[in-house]
Amino acid sequence: MTSESRSYLTTPIYYVNDKPHIGHAYTSLAADVMARWRRMSGQEVFFLTGTDEHGQKVEKAAEARGMQPQAFTDMVSEAFRELAARMNYSNDAFIRTTEERHKRACAALWTRLQERGEIYLGHYEGWYAVRDEAFYGPDEITEKDGQKFAPTGAPVEWVREPSYFFRLSAWQDRLLAFYEAHPDFIAPGTRRNEVISFVRSGLSDLSISRTSFKWGVKVPGDDAHVMYVWLDALTNYITALGYPDETGELWKFWPADVHFVGKDILRFHAIYWPAFLMAADLPPPRRIFAHGWWTNEGQKISKSVGNVIDPLALIDEFGLDPVRFFLLREVPFGNDGDFSRRALIGRLNSELANDLGNLAQRSLALIQKNCEGRLPAAGPELPADGEVLDAIRALPGQVDEALGRQAFHEALERIWVVTRLGNSWIDAQKPWSLKKTDPARMLSVLRHLHSLLRCLATVLLPFMPGTMARMLDQLGVPEGRRGLAALASPMPDGTALPPPSPLFQKIQDEAA
Ligand code: MSP
Repeated sequence: MTSESRSYLTTPIYYVNDKPHIGHAYTSLAADVMARWRRMSGQEVFFLTGTDEHGQKVEKAAEARGMQPQAFTDMVSEAFRELAARMNYSNDAFIRTTEERHKRACAALWTRLQERGEIYLGHYEGWYAVRDEAFYGPDEITEKDGQKFAPTGAPVEWVREPSYFFRLSAWQDRLLAFYEAHPDFIAPGTRRNEVISFVRSGLSDLSISRTSFKWGVKVPGDDAHVMYVWLDALTNYITALGYPDETGELWKFWPADVHFVGKDILRFHAIYWPAFLMAADLPPPRRIFAHGWWTNEGQKISKSVGNVIDPLALIDEFGLDPVRFFLLREVPFGNDGDFSRRALIGRLNSELANDLGNLAQRSLALIQKNCEGRLPAAGPELPADGEVLDAIRALPGQVDEALGRQAFHEALERIWVVTRLGNSWIDAQKPWSLKKTDPARMLSVLRHLHSLLRCLATVLLPFMPGTMARMLDQLGVPEGRRGLAALASPMPDGTALPPPSPLFQKIQDEAA
């Protein structure tokens, strides 16, 4: 198997300081759709998610609940597992950084970096934001009412302690050369430019250990230090593949194809991570995609404002697949976007229930009624069929191209162009009135509608796995024929189709 037929996709590992919200659900959803698409394309996929359990932020959150950190992280990590199950993510593994195998991987990476002369012991003095688990330079700090803040809005504190350092400054030119040689490494392009100009402006060595708290992976040979939580966290991507055993079964998946991250954590992934890896003589990942942030009805989402969106509550109210669809349809992946109930209900009613649901229901009900529930054969192809048949042939490739760029919204737009074409075509062909005038043509029209619906349901499977599986059941497509390659071979004439039932329920919105 070549490396192109294999794909390693990851989500960030989530801090277990609080319960999951829409931002967590979003990053993993994108990775899930990608993983499902690649599996359907015949690739061997490894899709990883998990929880980031060390560091001061988590330690403080445990303290605030009066719990031991391990008991606390066991509890919150479970909530992220539950989210993964409720969101129907198809992750192949779930990693926790408090696992022994992960501590071993961190120690091995540390030792390798040390042996290669990339780490030295010094003294750190500077600003630290626990909320971001990040160090900030003096020029990045602002002050309000006597409190100092990082550019992210997180309060910072002055830290002075002995610390090990990673020679990040020595990697500046090699990182820039790497970005230059790999133009697709950071996406979207605007983010790439930001990273490049940040690196160009100069990199300082990075403090990679702390002594003022204990909740972390111990530095090999120096128990007074725990590793900086980002070095620990980033290592998860290779722990899960068996590192430091580079001969194990899963190691073939390295380097990762796409690390999906939010824009706030791009710097760690696009600067520190490839530098650590190159310094350890390991290949960097192929691509980091940084998506934007959601606001809620126009407002920044924050615990203190009390407008955090609970993905489980959304699923309870609207159903899982409409939520999955909406999050990737509403906002170009990479941009910031606003979540509004009105927009969600609008898309659910017009695009899912009307455009797709009604097209399926109308077509399948006609087949049920006029063909004894069996798939009719296509008659001679007429000029009027051309645009539908061409669209069916072209759509999987178009979706693949868009998803290859993580342009989920473009993939969905392509799919909706064809869905709308299906609706205008059925209205123009009027199969219901052909019954009397030209029954043979009616059968042919219904067959083409079936082919169109089969194509739509197949390419939509990764986005709405549950509902599209139901749609494929109604279309009589057996489980083994739901991959992309199967689309090229027509369904056997006469296939029995079960009576259709509606795929989506419209929502009556009191506020709309
Ligand atoms: N633990 C680190 C990641 C370590 S990866 C080696 C972390 N965790 S996090 O729980 O704080 O955030 C995880 C993800 O949630 C990030 O990708 C972040 O961008 C995303 N989101 C948090 N709030 C968000 C929104 N309001 N909107 C969209 N995504 C947001 O960072």
